[in-house]
Amino acid sequence: MLQAQLTIDPAHRVAPVRRRTFGTFVEHLGRCVYTGIYEPGHPTADAEGFRGDVLALTRELGVTTVRYPGGNFVSGYRWEDGVGPRERRPRRLDLAWHSTETNEIGVDEFVRWSRLAGLEPMMAVNLGTRGVAEAVDLLEYCNIPSGTTLSDLRVAGGAKEPHDIRMWCLGNEMDGPWQIGHKTAHEYGRLAAETARAMRMVDPGLELVACGSSGSSMPTFGSWETTVLEETYDLVDHISCHAYYEEKDGDLGGFLACATDMEHFISTVVSIADQVGARLGSGKKISVSFDEWNIWYLSRHQSAPPPPDWPVAPPLLEDHYHLADAVAFGGLLVTLLRHSDRVAAACLAQLVNVIAPIMTEPGGRAWRQTTFHPFAQAARYASGDVLLTEPVGPSYETGEFGQVPVLHAVATHDDRFTTVFAVNRSVTEPLELELDTRALGAVRIAEATTLTHEDVYARNTADDPERVAPRPNTSHRSDPARIVLPPVSWNVIRLARS
Ligand code: AHR
Repeated sequence: MLQAQLTIDPAHRVAPVRRRTFGTFVEHLGRCVYTGIYEPGHPTADAEGFRGDVLALTRELGVTTVRYPGGNFVSGYRWEDGVGPRERRPRRLDLAWHSTETNEIGVDEFVRWSRLAGLEPMMAVNLGTRGVAEAVDLLEYCNIPSGTTLSDLRVAGGAKEPHDIRMWCLGNEMDGPWQIGHKTAHEYGRLAAETARAMRMVDPGLELVACGSSGSSMPTFGSWETTVLEETYDLVDHISCHAYYEEKDGDLGGFLACATDMEHFISTVVSIADQVGARLGSGKKISVSFDEWNIWYLSRHQSAPPPPDWPVAPPLLEDHYHLADAVAFGGLLVTLLRHSDRVAAACLAQLVNVIAPIMTEPGGRAWRQTTFHPFAQAARYASGDVLLTEPVGPSYETGEFGQVPVLHAVATHDDRFTTVFAVNRSVTEPLELELDTRALGAVRIAEATTLTHEDVYARNTADDPERVAPRPNTSHRSDPARIVLPPVSWNVIRLARS
């Protein structure tokens, strides 16, 4: 059996756990909105057509914020199409996903759904086919109480109170050649700066996110951030990072260590931001909004033909996650938490049906994918402060990342509990984890759960929704506190004062 040690010391504080780490993303894409969050006529739907089963699972997932309406979709979106009487809303081609958008759901319905789910909405503006004027119009529509044409239009539509949306993304993935209205860093940086300046004239207190790179392997990674931040530094609060991972060429060990790329991505972006800030003589720090992250079998999607005939809400990007995906995913959560000093927000992309923790059948059941569980546990149990923890233990060789530690872990600490989130990346070996808790005083392992399965490719389905779910781990012992983590596992260990 492999052995590793983790020292937990509340003096080694990184930052408070940021609730916005547990954000998610709803895009007009595939069945995320239509037959995802919204399906009038579904047996659980409310009077507005929102699915009650999806709302319940969203609450259980513990999501805090939700980014909307895209994604690639936003770069061709006219927000005005989605407001006013439904029967007058236009049907449009959605170029990003080769679909037809009916506009049955728009900003007002989305904000109402967010409030029902207890989430903070986070809005993206279209800087692909549109610009400063339309972004400011949307802000006025959403956040001005009344007394202007656009705010009165909102009130007339039934939304008497302003939506008061605080966090705004200035476009989406503008570095990507696939993006409608793709731009160079300089073109985008200028547009983002002018949009931010105008939006701040409406409300100086907004939190604004400039688009960073769509992945650390983008050819412009690094130079993009430098140029964009040189243009926008004083006008924005955050720079975005997006990252998706998948198992490639049967390299399971490498895949389980994909958080290594995320670690490097965050550290590099933070260094670049600080360097730009230093050059500008600014005392301000830019933080990271990791507003798209997940496991996504993108290569499968890229090799699939586009849907024919511009369908409405076709099934797209409906990845079915297995145990190994959930463990790699847990590693990404560990990394986001470890960087809580600079990662101010994160959005799991996406929430329902589209590369999502929640799946639905049209007219039928909803269930939890394997990835639901690490997210729900981290959202529920990460609390208080994130502690700096450096595991001591074995490492292994990967094709993509060289030597990586077998154990990837983080701890959080509040007045009642210290919680360790730990991934055993070994494909074959259990790992005995010893916790050095001397700095915590008298504590005991009050609860421990493990997400694992004898078949690393086991999935949950509508017929077998609990096949992969956290189960109690009873292997723990005291003096010293220790526990056995099975190979390919996500683990949550809760220490309580004894
Ligand atoms: O989340 C799916 C897509 O991934 C988003 O629309 C886009 O921003 C990213 O490339």
